[in-house]
Amino acid sequence: MSVLDLLLGNRNKSKLKSAFKAAGLTRKIKRRGQAKDLEILPTIHSVRYLDKRTEFVFTLPNGVDPELVAKNDYVFKQYLGTQTEISGNLKRFVVNVYKGRMPSQFDYAYTDTDHRLPIICGINRVGELVTYDMALTPHLLITGETGAGKSTQLRSVITQLILSRGPDQLRLVLGDLKMSEFHVFRNLAHVEAVCYNAGELTKQLDWVDGELKKRGKLLNEHELTHISELPSPPPAIVVAIDEFALLREEKAVMRVVEDISAIGRALDVYLVLSQQRADKDVMNGRLKQNLTVRMAFRAADAINSRITIGSGEAAEISIEDRGRFYLKREQLEILQGPFLSVEKARALLKPYKRRGVDSSDSPHKGEYPVPTLNDPLGLLGDSPAGFAGGDDDA
Ligand SMILES: Nc1ncnc2c1ncn2[C@@H]1O[C@H](COP(=O)(O)OP(=O)(O)O)[C@@H](O)[C@H]1O
Ligand SMILES: [Mg+2]
Repeated sequence: MSVLDLLLGNRNKSKLKSAFKAAGLTRKIKRRGQAKDLEILPTIHSVRYLDKRTEFVFTLPNGVDPELVAKNDYVFKQYLGTQTEISGNLKRFVVNVYKGRMPSQFDYAYTDTDHRLPIICGINRVGELVTYDMALTPHLLITGETGAGKSTQLRSVITQLILSRGPDQLRLVLGDLKMSEFHVFRNLAHVEAVCYNAGELTKQLDWVDGELKKRGKLLNEHELTHISELPSPPPAIVVAIDEFALLREEKAVMRVVEDISAIGRALDVYLVLSQQRADKDVMNGRLKQNLTVRMAFRAADAINSRITIGSGEAAEISIEDRGRFYLKREQLEILQGPFLSVEKARALLKPYKRRGVDSSDSPHKGEYPVPTLNDPLGLLGDSPAGFAGGDDDA
């Protein structure tokens, strides 16, 4: 370590200590006969200068509320700069001060992963692509104000799923209550239906409900823990609904959605729900708890951010930063979601287009391998019959 690093290190340590004090992360101990209390600060264990960031590790004194760290996120940013991020729990925390700014835009490109149901989240602070497997960490909740980037994120998530799995391995039920976002997915080989109202969705979810029951029975009969252990497993089903809160009064929809959230994982049935807020007026607590992966785009205020990710950061995302969000799994991470235009999505999805079938009233509900297609198995091979490549609404 150079002299400069040492000097810098001391300067940064003292900044960090000032932040500890301003954030109230100290413990005061009364001393007999002394006017001033003894103030115990968190212990700084290490400072590392890395390529794209400086990393501090500290632990709190016993008795200091760890929630104060997240609550005072802004204090750390005030002292160490806006590119500061803190993660940790209970006692041990890591502070990262990044050198560059967050990348502001990146374009979606198909990504080959090992995941069975790959979710492409976005790029992180240092430009790495963050992905995960929905088959392992099921059920995704996306929240954020209008214009923050929810529907765009859904578009790239659904497109990636379609490009990653064949129609005999993945079935999609899509809900677009604003009737504005999912046209591009109509009449695709993977798509059971794009539903624009509660009635259509109820019909599709009846089918999903039947699948839950059938698959549950199969698990039971074969004494399996996951449906994919069957010799020829049924396709994964993903139910993705944009602006889900518009369905809050729809009991039939809610019942099936809650069931999927509770038992879907072992049955290979998954949820992706997006809505502006996730408070209990629009989503009951049990359902919310089962949506374990969260993407919080810009929130109206810290309360709404906290409802989704447990802390207030999403309220600090700037209105200009469209597609910026916090991904909450075990840790919280800020990401920039991929931008995929409707035109590009349409071009990518063209090979899966079906001709002359209106998927909204396609009579699936059949046995495996799956329905709605004249030739469900030959479609991706050399039989072009089912695929046209014409425009969707034509
Ligand atoms: N990942 C992104 N990168 C760049 N711009 C984005 C991104 N996501 C959204 N936008 C921009 O923001 C606008 C609103 O996004 P949208 O997904 O419709 O928000 P929401 O569904 O939350 O209302 C889009 O039309 C687009 O111009
Ligand atoms: Mg939208």
